[in-house]
This record gives sequence, structure tokens and C-alpha cells, in this order.
Amino acid sequence: MTRRLTLGIFQFLAPSGMTGGSWRHPDNTAVDFLDIEHWTTLARRFERAGFDFLFFADSYGYPELEHQVIPDAVRDAIQFPQGDPIVIVSAVAAVTERLGIVATASTMVERPQAIARRYATLDNFTKGRLGWNIVTGAGQGSSARLFGEELTPHDTRYDMAEDHVQIALKLWEGSWEPDALRLDKEGRVYADPAKVHEISHAGPYFSANGLLTVPPSPQQTPFLLQAGTSGRGKDFAARYAEGVFLAGGEVSHIAANVADIRARAAAFGRDPRAIKFVVGASFITAPTREEAEAKREEMLTLSTTENAATAYAYYTGLDLLAMDQDAPLGGGTRTELGQSNVDRFTGENGATVKTVGEILEDFRRNGVNGTTFVGTPAEIADEVEAFIEATDADGFLIQPYLTPGTYDDLIELLLPEFHRRGLHSPEYEGTTLREHFQGEGRKRLADDHPGAAFRP
Ligand SMILES: Cc1cc2nc3c(=O)[nH]c(=O)nc-3n(C[C@H](O)[C@H](O)[C@H](O)COP(=O)(O)O)c2cc1C
Repeated sequence: MTRRLTLGIFQFLAPSGMTGGSWRHPDNTAVDFLDIEHWTTLARRFERAGFDFLFFADSYGYPELEHQVIPDAVRDAIQFPQGDPIVIVSAVAAVTERLGIVATASTMVERPQAIARRYATLDNFTKGRLGWNIVTGAGQGSSARLFGEELTPHDTRYDMAEDHVQIALKLWEGSWEPDALRLDKEGRVYADPAKVHEISHAGPYFSANGLLTVPPSPQQTPFLLQAGTSGRGKDFAARYAEGVFLAGGEVSHIAANVADIRARAAAFGRDPRAIKFVVGASFITAPTREEAEAKREEMLTLSTTENAATAYAYYTGLDLLAMDQDAPLGGGTRTELGQSNVDRFTGENGATVKTVGEILEDFRRNGVNGTTFVGTPAEIADEVEAFIEATDADGFLIQPYLTPGTYDDLIELLLPEFHRRGLHSPEYEGTTLREHFQGEGRKRLADDHPGAAFRP
């Protein structure tokens, strides 16, 4: 069975790609990430190629150990530096018409009222093309320290995220009725006071009483995504996410996570098929297999074991270089930072147990998000078909190994093969991001989503 894949592009406002210090490659233009034209040029190109969305990851954190920045992070641009992606959304929106735009915001950094207002404004500016990737935050150790706070325990962060998102949903779905905006100049009614409501929320962590001060946007609630597959992360996804970003890696582990989140969603009374799973992956392609492999080898010369350890410490707080390289991490290893990147290697949910040395090599070769497809377009398309069949995922979040080389190869070589096979179409579904994911006509949050219960 062929299904139309959802294809997004993964970006940080950062100079390196997903593995090692790729900023050092002579052709790398991501070092221009602080030039606005860098983004507008890329975005136009992504839209012309028909990618469903451009995703900006984000975090205030950076790699640290023992409350000290890791020097390798600064020297070789590993998960550092990182600009604020929300400010690029307007610029990208101004030069595109169909491309979806997803920006991460952590529920640990800003209050829900601020996020609700900013995303409502941007969903209007983008004419309904905006998504929120809801995270409790990678790099939480350094992020908490930056804000002068103690590290909040992992599961508490997800309790806070639930409380946070409920306020945002109440503001988006409950404050303005969809037809509240009248714009009747002669009748002197800008908006109908009977259709604009103050919301209230008294939660354990956040409270709110009042109005969303932005009129409704085409999606009203921006499309909601989530990333993070710890047990609590999966519950959160099953309840609130419409799209889930999963790390690549072992097929059995990905398949188990997809099935687990779909089952949890059904238990919460949601349609499990409505949640779309998008897997982080890199594609290194060329007209021949030898050329593709040579490209990969070239990129690997820019990715050191030290870089891999720095990235792993960023996600988990664990110092793999200080551990026995031949021993496994051990089932039951817990971190107060990102648990998904521990569980992937300790036998949880269908994963194979790996030694510390193997984890480092995996991170060195593939970066945090796992799967790397290497080969001719036809070879990769065959592998992609098998991968989708085995995992029940819905698409890929394509990670750069080199900008713009990654995109040249994707657009010129791989997409035409995907189109030939019906794996993707250059035509956009509908005009909003929700429609790109869920089909034409589905502009608003589904009725079985908990946010729908907040409608007046
Ligand atoms: C494809 C993908 C994209 C992600 N993007 C972000 C991001 O932009 N910001 C962030 O803090 N975490 C991001 N994460 C999640 C973190 O890796 C981490 O798992 C999460 O923040 C902590 O939750 P956990 O304990 O459930 O893993 C992403 C994960 C994946 C798989």
C-alpha cells in the first residue's frame, strides 16, 4: 500500500547540521543562519519543491556537564549557538503561500498566555500555516540554570506541560467564537461582545482569568505537535498532539512507540489514526551508491566521538566518555533530562541494548535522530517503503547533514523518485498546516481533541 508521506524539513537557527561540526565543511552556508535571506531563500525553495512544512527546533539549553558548558560545544558548534526561531516565522510567511511552518516552544520557558497570543498572531499572519511543537525542553539543565531556577524533575515538567497547554487551548478555542469578529464599520461593531468570552483556569502550576486579545485565526488553534517519547511524554502526546515527532533509529523501537501512542490515544477517546507520526531522518543520495557513500564518509570526517558525547550530554546529562565503553548503559538508567535518548539504547520498547561505545558511534554517525538512508534514489525509496510498512509512521522530518547540499540532492534526485512512486505529491492538501497533515477541509481541531471541550 502506498501512502502519501508527510515531509517536513528540520532546522535549528544554528550553523551545524545534525551530526558533528558540519559548519566546518567548505560548502556549508548554514553559517549564515543569522542572515534573514538565508531563511527566505531556503523557504521559497522548500515551497517550490512541495515540502509540507519547515520545522524550527528550539531550546534555551546548551551542552553542559557538572553545571559547566562543555568546551567542545562552543569550539565546534554542537547544539550551540542557537537563535530564537519564532522571530523568523513572519519573514518565512511573507515569502511563501503554502509551506507550513512549525516552531518549538517549551512549556518550561514561557507562560501559556504569552505563547497563546504569539502563536495566534502568527497563525493569522501565516493564514493558518502555523504549528506549535510542544516540548518540555531538551538541554533542561543549562536552561534552568540560565533562568536561575532549580532543575524541575522530569515527570513534573510533563504535569506542568498539561496545565500549560490547557490554558493555551482555552484561550484559542474558548475565548473567541469563530464568528465573533464582525468588522461592521457602519453598524459600529468590530467584534460581537456576546461572542468573546473570558476563560478561567486554576491549575496546580498555572492560572488564568481573561481574554485572548487576538481575533481567531484560520486554524484557531495552531496545529499541535509534540516530541519526547518517555512514558509521560507518550501520554502527553496521546492526549494533546495531532502530530508527533519521533527520533529515527531502530525500526522495532519506532514501531513500538507508534503503536503505544496510538493505543494510549484510543484509551483517551481519540481517533488513533488521526495522529500523524513524523520520524527524524537524514537522506544522503547521489546518482550512484558509491557517490552517496562517499558523501557520507566525507561528512563523517567532520563528526568526532567528542562531538557525539557533547550532543549526548546535551540531551541526557550523561557523560559517555567517562563510562566503560564496553558496558551497556543498563536498563532502568534514569535521567532528569531527556529520557527518550536513554530508553532508545537500554532495551525499552523493542530497542536493542547497546554498549556505551556503540551509542557514541550511533550518535557520531546519525546524530540524535537516528535513521540515515544512504543510496541511489531508487534504493532509498525501496527502503522508505519498507520502513513505513514496518513502523506505521506517516512521514519524515528531514534533517540536514549539509546546507544546501542536502536540499539540492533531495529536490533534484530523491523527490522525483518519491513522486513517481506516489510516496509524495508536490501538490499541497488544503491551505492550512492541519490540512497538509490531515486532509483538505480539516482546518480546525478535531471534535475528539480535549481542546474542543473548551469551545463555548
Ligand atoms: C524529531 C525531534 C525533534 C525534537 N525537537 C525538539 C525541540 O525543538 N526542542 C526540544 O526541547 N526538544 C525537542 N525534541 C525532544 C527532545 O529530544 C527530548 O526528548 C524532550 O524534550 C524531552 O522529553 P522526554 O524526556 O520525553 O524525552 C525533539 C525530538 C525529536 C525526536
